[in-house]
Amino acid sequence: MAAKTKAAGTTAIRGPVLTYTGDAFLEGLESTMRYEPDAIVAMSGGKITHFGPARKVRTQLPPGTKIREYGKDTIILAGFIDCHVHYPQTQIIGAYGEQLIDWLNKYTFVAEQQFAKKPHAREVAKVFLKECLRAGTTTATVYCTVHPQSVDAFFEESEALGMRMIAGKIMMDRNAPEALTDTPKKGYDESKALIKKWHDNGRQLYCVTPRFAPTSSPEQMEMTGALWAEHPGTYLQSHVSENRGEVAWVKELYPKRKGYLDTYDHYKQLGPRAIYGHGIWLTEEELKRCHETGTAIAHCPTSNEFLGSGLFNLKNAKKAERPVRVGLATDLGAGTSFSILQTLNETYKVAQLNGNKLSAGHAFYFASRGTAQALYLEDKIGSIAAGMEADVVVLDLKSTPIIEYRMRYCKDIEEALFIQMTMGDDRAVLATYVAGRLAYSRPAQKYA
Ligand code: GUN
Ligand code: ZN
Repeated sequence: MAAKTKAAGTTAIRGPVLTYTGDAFLEGLESTMRYEPDAIVAMSGGKITHFGPARKVRTQLPPGTKIREYGKDTIILAGFIDCHVHYPQTQIIGAYGEQLIDWLNKYTFVAEQQFAKKPHAREVAKVFLKECLRAGTTTATVYCTVHPQSVDAFFEESEALGMRMIAGKIMMDRNAPEALTDTPKKGYDESKALIKKWHDNGRQLYCVTPRFAPTSSPEQMEMTGALWAEHPGTYLQSHVSENRGEVAWVKELYPKRKGYLDTYDHYKQLGPRAIYGHGIWLTEEELKRCHETGTAIAHCPTSNEFLGSGLFNLKNAKKAERPVRVGLATDLGAGTSFSILQTLNETYKVAQLNGNKLSAGHAFYFASRGTAQALYLEDKIGSIAAGMEADVVVLDLKSTPIIEYRMRYCKDIEEALFIQMTMGDDRAVLATYVAGRLAYSRPAQKYA
């Protein structure tokens, strides 16, 4: 049993809880999904101290602990995780009409230039993080811009909120506006200084961030691989095989490489804690290489639909003979919603278009422990158990009139979860706890 702490320092919440104890894709739901219809989760010192049936846990809490009751029409989950998102693109969500490369040139590279000014970066970081909390997202793997001050602004704001965030400065030295480029040496030096300042500083983790192979010269790719190797424990993020035109362009830019993934492999950018966005057009051989190296792919369904990039095949990526680590991601601002519920909605629909199903049990695993596993963080976040970091989201199962109506015809927890991921959005997020602190509480909703 966990040590007894002062009641004043303990936050306890009660309601139905859903969590996972293993890999739902590989081990199945039966042995990994845990549903407690009436549970207490107690949190202190940033960690979960107790979790179990309410009647049992109640007797173990420090005397005088107040318990916040959420009731039977809610569900308590580990905070959602978004493993690929661009905070500077918050201001261009829903930019019309283009596919990847034109969308980058017409909208993204214009917006990102504004992040040379730190006050602008700070303002956007605040909006972004607030929206994360409103969506129940407590951890994200985040692209900043080429400007180091965009990273400082982001980490300063996430640190103030106590959130576990992974982020880094984009490196680009070609095929982008001059105002957004660095050089191999500048990118290396600035990233190194940011690693020193931010990696493992509180809950912040640094991510070496070469944007994608087309915007880095071979020299920058070389130095990026070296930088990452020099800093064990840091992350690396980039994009791969998102758009067919992009894949063809990479072939022209790197004619000696076997394929797109091999451009990163050659420059030592694959391995544990490397996360690549999209991966829609990866070949079987490339997926095998992701598996062998422990490289993760971020599945970004709303973005892939919005930019017309294609349908990532999640089931194929998780194939039992060579399962690839895959995390869930919004990829804002090409993605269209902060809501992880809406992102799961689109994950399901993309699976259907590939001829596959995705059960609600697997989907909620994917949004929490599954993405934590892709990030090698499943010992810290993504599930509810004593000792885990206390990032928790509480969903209202009847958040709108039509969901309330639909729930009258709901038979069991699987169906209730599927209704939430199909019909729910930010309105379903009743509360978000970060490191045991209530960081967001939904204002009262009025429906006539
Ligand atoms: N590839 C390179 N940069 C980007 C970006 O900002 N968004 C998306 N979706 N793909 C990219
Ligand atoms: Zn992206």
